[in-house]
Amino acid sequence: MQAVDYELLERQVRGLLEDERDFIANAANFAAFVYAELPAINWAGFYLPAPDGLVLGPFGGKPACSRLPKGQGICNRAFDEKRTVVVDDVSQAADHIYCDSASKSEIVVPLMVNGEAHGVFDLDSPELARFRAEDQAGIEGLVAAFLEATSI
Ligand code: SME
Repeated sequence: MQAVDYELLERQVRGLLEDERDFIANAANFAAFVYAELPAINWAGFYLPAPDGLVLGPFGGKPACSRLPKGQGICNRAFDEKRTVVVDDVSQAADHIYCDSASKSEIVVPLMVNGEAHGVFDLDSPELARFRAEDQAGIEGLVAAFLEATSI
């Protein structure tokens, strides 16, 4: 797979979001941008806190699960542990929740502001082990640029 220029993507995210701070507007554009620009991705989007777990937010890709019940799935794991979770083979992760059987690997980055998780940004890939260390660093940088540009 061709190397991704995450520095360029980060500059493009800052440009895309510079005139707006609304959460829904920026989350929608951010998810659509990442889904369009990253290779080997079949879903990119947000899950946001709800009383009973996480609820679907803006995304790019096929329709996905609306609700992820508290304590279940990779997104909740990243949210609860306040750290990025990378799964190389989702079929081997007992707590993975399938929204699309095409998904083979996954990365979930929590939206951290002042030590609090305000939701997660989730990416799925149809390839095994799609998300390497440089992708984790790059995607965390993109999420940080989104958070700086957006009112939470
Ligand atoms: N796989 C996620 C659910 C969300 S979908 O991948 C879009 C999880 O286990 O939390």
